[in-house]
Amino acid sequence: MSPVTDPREAPLPARKPSGFSNLVLHLHPKLVPAAALPLSRTFGLGGGAAVLFLILAVTGSLLLVVYEPSPERAHGTVTRLVDEVPFGALVRNVHHWAANGMVLVTLLHLLRVFYRGGHLPPRRGNWFAGVALLLLVVACAFTGYLLPWDQLAFWAVTIATGMLEYAPMVGGLLLRAARGGADVGPATLARFFVLHVAILPIAMLLLLAFHFWLVRKVGGVILPEGSGDRASPRGALVPTSPNLTQREGAMALGVLAAVMVAAALWDAPLLAQANPGMSPNPAKAPWYFMGVQELLVHLHPALGAVGVPLLGVVLLLALPALGGRQPPTGRWFGSARGARHALVAAAVGAVGTAALVVANEPLRRAPPWLPGIPPAVRSGALPLAAMAMLLLGAAWLSRRRGATRIESVQSAVSFALASFGVLTLVGVFLRGQGMALVLP
Ligand code: HEM
Ligand code: HEM
Repeated sequence: MSPVTDPREAPLPARKPSGFSNLVLHLHPKLVPAAALPLSRTFGLGGGAAVLFLILAVTGSLLLVVYEPSPERAHGTVTRLVDEVPFGALVRNVHHWAANGMVLVTLLHLLRVFYRGGHLPPRRGNWFAGVALLLLVVACAFTGYLLPWDQLAFWAVTIATGMLEYAPMVGGLLLRAARGGADVGPATLARFFVLHVAILPIAMLLLLAFHFWLVRKVGGVILPEGSGDRASPRGALVPTSPNLTQREGAMALGVLAAVMVAAALWDAPLLAQANPGMSPNPAKAPWYFMGVQELLVHLHPALGAVGVPLLGVVLLLALPALGGRQPPTGRWFGSARGARHALVAAAVGAVGTAALVVANEPLRRAPPWLPGIPPAVRSGALPLAAMAMLLLGAAWLSRRRGATRIESVQSAVSFALASFGVLTLVGVFLRGQGMALVLP
């Protein structure tokens, strides 16, 4: 179909639009810039996360036919679902892989938006909505984790909710609010169930509607500067259907196929029924919290479990304000120079973190009475301060070497992300009994 350069030239629909095109036109305008079509603009990550949410809602509703949320019956109903109900294991596996996929794809979508400058005005409002969505996705995945009520679920939730206790002053209150008591028990399961199947998905649905509306309101996703120029072929407007809808359909089928293949190949874990008297060693949190659990190995709990994660969320919210006045270029990493700086900063962050993890192993295992280890090293405050200095140094150096303000902030974030990525990998793969460093 030949491109249409002006919305007023769009051909009028010859007949009443079908229900499907009505739905599409609620999500998209009738015409979209040709420049928005290539896959590399968004990698379909936002759409992918939305498809995963739909898969989760459908499979979650099917799981509800059998699942019962009480400590006495939950594990039994999941076992029956897997062993006796036709396609029960498949539905559970799809739910499991779609959930993990949604956490991952949402994080990748956040990175795509950030490294293209989509978090800056005029899209700043949608960035804030996105941060709230991210918290909802993680909360949904975490509350679902407890529902099978097996040893893995019980102890992962015990570890992760236990981190709340380290919050100064309000720690005990937060812990009891999350667990519904001092320990993980029937009240925790009841709370997590209601949050998981009703409150969080409904909140997510409402926020998603707002998120999509905001994308449309500011005129679509961010495009590289110059590509909106109507005189060039890339700047032309083309009909949304079939140009964009076909691509979105293919993307949705690709996501569904990937989840089905994962579900057919790997079963969702199900260990023995939860036993509050017997903790596995090591007891680990879900993978998306392992970076924080690894921080706890090195830092004073108030810093590792509360200070650093809270700072992380505050910085995510502050990113639009740190971008300066220059408008974003809409290109990946701003420019080739920005990409180089971000890569070097990420490499320094990853290597520095790995070196500190290894160096800290003998120190943290040293008995408390051993002299010569300053308290600032024991609490992890000194290594943390050193990493913070390195991070700021990376941003400063990037700016000195000609990067824009946005690019230097991107370098600092790359440093922090690589550092957190290394902590997560170490926590997931290299921690054994007593959280000692082991080979995978
Ligand atoms: C939208 C409505 C949803 C409903 C009705 C629902 C329902 C359920 C039910 C009944 C279970 C327990 C069965 C089992 O553990 O095998 C479960 C588990 C789970 N759900 Fe959901 N869910 C929904 C959405 C989500 C979302 C959006 C996520 C993640 C982002 C998610 C993540 C999980 C996880 C990780 C489990 C544990 C699965 C496992 O055993 O590995 N759920 N869900
Ligand atoms: C449930 C999770 C999410 C879903 C389903 C979702 C969906 C989408 C979709 C479909 C788009 C337009 C196309 C695309 O970029 O792929 C979009 C754009 C956007 N999203 Fe999300 N999103 C989610 C989470 C997030 C998060 C965690 C952030 C950031 C913190 C975020 C920030 C944005 C921004 C700023 C835009 C506009 C970007 C631009 O114009 O380039 N979203 N989102």
